[in-house]
Amino acid sequence: MIRVLGIETSCDETAASVVGLDADGSCVLSPRILSNVVLSQIAEHAAFGGVVPEIAARAHVEALDGIVEAALADAGTDLSEVDAVAATAGPGLVGGLIVGLMTAKAIAAAAGKQLIAINHLEGHALTARLTDGLEFPYLLLLVSGGHTQIVRVGGVGDYQRWATTIDDALGEAFDKTAKMLGLPYPGGPNVEKAAAGGDAARFAFPRPMKGSHQPDFSFSGLKTAVRQAASAIAPLSERDVADICASFQAAVADALADRVRRALARFRAEYPDISEPALVVAGGVAANRMVKGTLEDLCREAGFRFVAPPLKLCTDNAAMIAWAGIERIRTGLADEDDGFSFVPRSRWPLDGLSAPVVGSGRRGAKA
Ligand code: KG4
Ligand code: ZN
Repeated sequence: MIRVLGIETSCDETAASVVGLDADGSCVLSPRILSNVVLSQIAEHAAFGGVVPEIAARAHVEALDGIVEAALADAGTDLSEVDAVAATAGPGLVGGLIVGLMTAKAIAAAAGKQLIAINHLEGHALTARLTDGLEFPYLLLLVSGGHTQIVRVGGVGDYQRWATTIDDALGEAFDKTAKMLGLPYPGGPNVEKAAAGGDAARFAFPRPMKGSHQPDFSFSGLKTAVRQAASAIAPLSERDVADICASFQAAVADALADRVRRALARFRAEYPDISEPALVVAGGVAANRMVKGTLEDLCREAGFRFVAPPLKLCTDNAAMIAWAGIERIRTGLADEDDGFSFVPRSRWPLDGLSAPVVGSGRRGAKA
């Protein structure tokens, strides 16, 4: 059995988890989440309408030791039984990354364990192998507060970014729309709730990039259209807010469908021998029923298997970081890098070869 302690502090969740990999009698390897502790800082940031980096870093310092202890206790284990410590080393808010990585280095050094520096996006990318035992290659759609990307996942350490956003991330577009309409933070769930009673046909919002030969996403034009529509009819009634939210979500679903359909076709063309390829979704926006429904429909239409890990593992958590550590140990990649000398990176593309995109849709915060 391999056991790894994972630590995640790249944004506003302080998280620790122990994941184990057992071999049964027939040598089938089965991963198990032995503990998964996540402390959200939403309450600390709500008054500011977004994540405040300084507050986040301080909150991680205060909480992390207790969260690590809780993760070990929940797993019924202690550091002597852990094989390695894996910590998110980027991308994300640098203050939080420093807290998490330094704590991990201290724990690993004191206990004489290996330290593995993990790219947070790799954690998201490999989660479907932990939850669903998915085989490589597959396609990943990451839709969170900080990223909107389509990535071909070819193997551990083998990632090719096929699309990213040229401006706002999708979660960010939800959050900004909520703010403009006076809905509370975090915006996504509140926009979805308001949209439930709204008329999606009332506002004809743009579908950015729809039909474009470029593969990328864009959401800032949609956000501007929402702002203009809202100020044209202000003050807004509850009905107006509901209609704007419903129309916004319809535009998002439509724009997303166009981009993802394109990527599915490319995957089919590149892997004609895979009879049922898979699309995996990750990130907080995957909680949105309209987004999920759209992706399910697209997969059905294109003959893809749709894999949506449980929401707790789609949003930021440390089980995905521990799991990425296990994957790196098993492939030998963990021995290639010295985690102890790794310096946190606020920007760290998963696909090192992908060209940077102007205004690449990050607020330097969530991934
Ligand atoms: O993955 P996540 O928990 O954190 C990171 O960004 O890493 O994603 C948070 C984002 C926020 O922008 C939030 O507004 C969005 O996911 N979100 C949603 C929904 N739930 C969360 N967006 C749309 N509909 C939802 N139901
Ligand atoms: Zn994330």
